[in-house]
Amino acid sequence: MSSACSFLFIPSTGYSSTVLSFELLLCFLLFIAVFAFWLRPGGLAWALSKAQAQARPGEAIPGPSGLPLLGMALSFTSSLTHRLLSRLSESFKAESLMAFSVGFTRFIISSNPETAKEILNSSAFADRPVKESAYGLLFHRAMGFAPYGEYWRNLRRISATHLFSPKRIASFGDFRREIGVKMVEEIMLKMEKNCEVEVKNVFHYGSLNNVMMSVFGKCYDFNGGNGDDGLELEGLVKEGYELLGIFNWSDHFPLLGWLDLQGVRRRSKKLVAKVNAFVGTIIEEKRLKRAENGHLEVAGDQHSHDFVDVLLDLENENRLSDSDMIAVLWEMIFRGTDTVAILLEWILARMILHPEIQAKAQDEIDSVIGTNNRPVSDSDLPNLPYLQAIVKESLRMHPPGPLLSWARLAIHDTCVGPYFVPAGTTAMVNMWAITHDGKVWPEPGKFRPERFLEDDVAIMGSDLRLAPFGSGRRVCPGKAMGLATVQLWLAQLLHNFKWTASHNNHAVDLSECLKLSMEMKQPLVCKAFPRISSTNQERVSDFGGFGC
Ligand code: HEM
Repeated sequence: MSSACSFLFIPSTGYSSTVLSFELLLCFLLFIAVFAFWLRPGGLAWALSKAQAQARPGEAIPGPSGLPLLGMALSFTSSLTHRLLSRLSESFKAESLMAFSVGFTRFIISSNPETAKEILNSSAFADRPVKESAYGLLFHRAMGFAPYGEYWRNLRRISATHLFSPKRIASFGDFRREIGVKMVEEIMLKMEKNCEVEVKNVFHYGSLNNVMMSVFGKCYDFNGGNGDDGLELEGLVKEGYELLGIFNWSDHFPLLGWLDLQGVRRRSKKLVAKVNAFVGTIIEEKRLKRAENGHLEVAGDQHSHDFVDVLLDLENENRLSDSDMIAVLWEMIFRGTDTVAILLEWILARMILHPEIQAKAQDEIDSVIGTNNRPVSDSDLPNLPYLQAIVKESLRMHPPGPLLSWARLAIHDTCVGPYFVPAGTTAMVNMWAITHDGKVWPEPGKFRPERFLEDDVAIMGSDLRLAPFGSGRRVCPGKAMGLATVQLWLAQLLHNFKWTASHNNHAVDLSECLKLSMEMKQPLVCKAFPRISSTNQERVSDFGGFGC
């Protein structure tokens, strides 16, 4: 060490060598103690918890300690968190249950169907951790983030009866089909103009209008027509997605909270004001219309009686304040739009990569529709088992919520299998790891819809080998609506077009990017050639349309 360096590290006067070595020893011991603390299974947050005191040797939940202080925080800044956590669970032989820390937050994660079922179906995990952005956007008053209790139960009951009931879903069938027809027309136009089409926005706007219609009874033009409402809505939705998808350091490091280093609080506050004005105006318009038309007349008409009407009709103790109503309505847009659009994009990518599967699905559709080539409708779906199997296989390979989107929170101390889990622990299920596990699914990396014809696995939450909509009390309430929409639009897209890869350097790239949902990293750009004439629905024999 140079004399300059030794000046920096070792005071030159006033200390005897005995004092110096005592100080060094103390530093060394402190260093070892801190590391031993962090190197406990699960890392810092687990070491600080009472689980540590309760666990006897060998009873602690296995898991990585991660980096000092940070724990596994960096895994959550990656766009492939589900894959990283899956690999970690494997290497720690902790598929059943793995513990880890992100800053001061304790996590458990299961990559195993039995343990996943135990967690998702337990009342102990019926809460959700509320991130700062969700709180800032008032989502703690909406269904997805509301604490488990009377208010949440009430919202679930109201929406199950008035938004997600089979009768209600069926009543919007014609409208879903209309949106599908509009998407087909838009794809035609894009093909005529560019000889290729990027489908992401087509599906996103279709899906957004589908939710807006069933929830608000309103449709929007996103091309700048009919005023700027559509563009304003899209701006609000985009900003909301970004805020909810951000990994916010202050969620896990409370001391950083007041600094708002990433600007999440500031941006959420700004967005909430805009959302209040936007959704508040729709509610006011609705109130005016009801006052003009007479409320009973509106209520009698199935289509004009949308979810806003339902909320306005609530009485007495069930009545929601305007700000709660805005939170509930606004959340539906976030939950219902991108999940559907993103899944459809993945399915189409698979159809292009597997032309023989695409052709088989088209043969099935043609055989059900018959020679007159009438448009596909909801009533055809039960007769399209292969198409349904394609949707299931896509949900298996590309679940929109690979970590089941929004996690669960332990309300009180509980046990998962033999392990003690203290209240306040965040619990996740790695659905992606389960659906890619060779012990659960034969040839998990192979896209083979036929597996669902051989073994009819239920996907609505009872069989945790494939539960893309979650399970238990907080299972997705929009699952039937989401599935009906994806199946119908897929049938329309396959009936109308033969899909191929675009040859302008746009090969199908299946790279993933986990944001709020798991998206395709490279948006799908492809070619769509008409199979039936748009005017009279006749079959087009030659696929060489558009001069492409
Ligand atoms: C392909 C489509 C969809 C997928 C894959 C999906 C997936 C999920 C998942 C994984 C959860 C968490 C479940 C759990 O914790 O066990 C969830 C919750 C939720 N979903 Fe969906 N979803 C879809 C469509 C929809 C639609 C169309 C809506 C409404 C318009 C919706 C509304 C909700 C709501 C409100 C929750 C929170 C429920 C609660 O916490 O009580 N979802 N969804």
